[in-house]
Amino acid sequence: MSDSEKKTVLTAAQPSGILTIGNYLGAIRHWTSMLDDNDCLFPIVNMHAITVPYTPADLRLRTRSLVAQYIACGLDPEKCTIFIQSHVVGHADLAWVLGCLTPLGELQRMTQFKDKTAKGAPLNSGLLFYPVLMAADILLYNADIVPVGEDQKQHLELARNIAERFNSTYSETFKIPEPQIATTGARILSLQDPNRKMSKSDENQGAYLLLTDEPDQIRKKISRAVTDSGSEVKSGPDKAGVTNLLSIMSGFSGKSVEEHEAEFVGKGYGDFKKAVGEVVVEGLRPIRERFEEIIEDKAYLDEVLKSGADIAQRKAYKMLSKVHRKVGFVERFR
Ligand code: TRP
Repeated sequence: MSDSEKKTVLTAAQPSGILTIGNYLGAIRHWTSMLDDNDCLFPIVNMHAITVPYTPADLRLRTRSLVAQYIACGLDPEKCTIFIQSHVVGHADLAWVLGCLTPLGELQRMTQFKDKTAKGAPLNSGLLFYPVLMAADILLYNADIVPVGEDQKQHLELARNIAERFNSTYSETFKIPEPQIATTGARILSLQDPNRKMSKSDENQGAYLLLTDEPDQIRKKISRAVTDSGSEVKSGPDKAGVTNLLSIMSGFSGKSVEEHEAEFVGKGYGDFKKAVGEVVVEGLRPIRERFEEIIEDKAYLDEVLKSGADIAQRKAYKMLSKVHRKVGFVERFR
């Protein structure tokens, strides 16, 4: 496929530490399958990360760590653009222009903002403006497709509205980005409460598996995972725990859930969990090893980030100068 036929796929994540297998199976793995046929951009949104209390040294470490995790998970920097949001001039600039087209009420209505407000903690204005910066992340690169989780659907809808408003206020400028809500690959749930999403903010560490968990930790967490009454290894609505383990197993083995069910006919949960443990250990081993290698290789990471920022910046300047022209800013001569 020639470069001009390729669609732009963009999705972003905040640098929040080591990812879980839920992030990998539910999101990143799908992104890796899009690299060949699309122009894929993966900004790491450190500017969004400072909307809530944080420690600067941690933010710096977690940002580099996420780059290394992305690469270890198969986002090959030769085939996609991984970059740090704050490295590229244009995100905040475009957000400002878009913000001036966004009624305050639309931002106050965002569920994520309302949830944070409801918790009663003091809020900064960055938190309110967060979805406008997200819209800028997307529109700055004229993204066609934005893979996001269900929880970001509303923010993406806002980005689409902002793009339409800009186009009708000035003139046709932005493509209207399409959300791609992950549906393939079941949602990975907590090992301790399979009614909840797997999340590393869970205070019980047994509830989640991290990409860097060691084989013994993996085996232990899976052997202690909540299963359901009965003894049959079968997925179903009343067997949330077993269903979740089956999706995890199938995610790493590449075989279907049905094939795995067939393997365990007449066997119990004990055998099943042992087998799940081994599949996950072997699935995570190359990722963990590659991550450890990359995170130590400062020169390589710096190079990836430099070339990512260069590619993104070229695109960003193009769009930014177009936007400046349309809104009536006097051109800067160089
Ligand atoms: N708000 C998104 C999240 O928390 C992160 C994000 C920022 C994003 N900018 C984006 C996602 C642009 C997709 C596209 O998950």
